[in-house]
Amino acid sequence: MSNVVVIGTQWGDEGKGKIVDWLSEKAHLVVRFQGGHNAGHTLVVDDKIFKLSLLPSGVVREKTIILIGNGVVIDPFHLKKEIDEINNQNIAISPENLIISDSAFLILPIHQLIDKLRENKKNDDKIGTTGRGIGPTYEDKVGRRGIRICDLYNREDLLIKISKLYDFHNIWLKAMGEKCLDPNDIFEKLWDLGQKLKAFVQPSWLIINKYNDPLYNVLYEGAQGTFLDVDHGTYPYVTSSNTIASQAGIGVGLGPTSIAYTVGITKAYTTRVGSGPFPTEDTGTDGIELGKRGHEFGTVTGRQRRCGWFDAVLVKQAVSLSSINGIALTKLDVLDGFREIKICTGYKLDDKMINYLPSSQEEQKKIKPIYEVLKGWKGSIVGLRKLSDLPEEAKNYVKKIQELVGSEIILISTSPERSDTIYIKDPFDFS
Ligand code: GDP
Ligand code: IMO
Ligand code: MG
Repeated sequence: MSNVVVIGTQWGDEGKGKIVDWLSEKAHLVVRFQGGHNAGHTLVVDDKIFKLSLLPSGVVREKTIILIGNGVVIDPFHLKKEIDEINNQNIAISPENLIISDSAFLILPIHQLIDKLRENKKNDDKIGTTGRGIGPTYEDKVGRRGIRICDLYNREDLLIKISKLYDFHNIWLKAMGEKCLDPNDIFEKLWDLGQKLKAFVQPSWLIINKYNDPLYNVLYEGAQGTFLDVDHGTYPYVTSSNTIASQAGIGVGLGPTSIAYTVGITKAYTTRVGSGPFPTEDTGTDGIELGKRGHEFGTVTGRQRRCGWFDAVLVKQAVSLSSINGIALTKLDVLDGFREIKICTGYKLDDKMINYLPSSQEEQKKIKPIYEVLKGWKGSIVGLRKLSDLPEEAKNYVKKIQELVGSEIILISTSPERSDTIYIKDPFDFS
């Protein structure tokens, strides 16, 4: 059994795409198991840049098969566009290398409209969603009125299902004084698209079952990050799916004992896009500098990411929530040139010290980070590929993180480029 799960340990954008692409060299199958095109994963391979939202980051590897599992919510229009874009970058996508679960749920234009309207109607309590219809689609899923990929293949039933769904949402649109949507406006387009995607669609759990075998290496690619998890994150400022490692099983149809190794992708500092608590956020010069050096702008919405120092309390909690076996530390090079580097080692809540993120919104607002200050390093570590080449201060920083979060660091990334990676341990060797 060689199933490796990769998840983000912070608020997303940790560099999962780069690491998944790197690890994909050894993977036969790379699988997305939650989220949708709210994700934005950037891969840099030689002089080429690939921007992925729905397609698993193994797509760039010639021999790797990619699979979109049942736990993902799919905007079929976006999916078709992304397939075309990647094809145009000379990566051939065909039913031979892309499998789409027949039981994944569909994001329809009405979901995106509702997502945006809800956000626009809020005042100071906006979540700052990506506007991609993720929340409303997951709501319809658990509300048992959602539409799945397999529903695209029965013309008569499809129209009935969309009509029921639209009737449900039109009540709210009408109450809000908005224009109601007509299911007939989408039906033919959706039907045509379904036909175009048909060859990719399969009961994907059968494929997962076939690859759940010591003969194969399978990589499960998480989107978003631990503190955007709908159960374990900074609720309500979260996404609408579970983002922790256990979701890999649910999102494809695999039991909990099948996961051999979990890698937590961790940025060497912290960022967040959208609203919500962020204990180590630095709105001063350090935060601005981190954002500038790290090019911290969202791939999906282009929004500026909020930045701050590394929060060891959060990442330690993420290690526990996903039983993480090893950490891939990314963007260490962004800390080049900082004279001092801060790490948050605990929080102060009123006059108490705590070493976890409290669940209540009020307490999350109140906590104040406690920092330990480490010496920065001189010179640049951009592109380094050997641990021994890191300056002593950078090694100390890595060691400190390792101690504080309670998980070993198995990879270090020193630039966006695929090969600029310090290899320490291969997760497939341990699984
Ligand atoms: P993801 O959502 O977790 O896949 O991360 P994103 O792709 O949204 O954001 C990470 C950004 O950092 C991308 O633009 C990557 O190309 C870039 N990146 C990844 N690893 C490194 C690194 O080690 N150093 C630097 N400077 N950039 C990196
Ligand atoms: P990747 O996979 C960072 C955030 C949004 C918003 C909240 C809810 O690239 O790391 P949603 O549209 O999901 O309902 O928005 O979640 N968010 C992300 N932040 N990286 C992501 O994905 C994100 N996907 C969603 O900004 O705060
Ligand atoms: Mg991203």
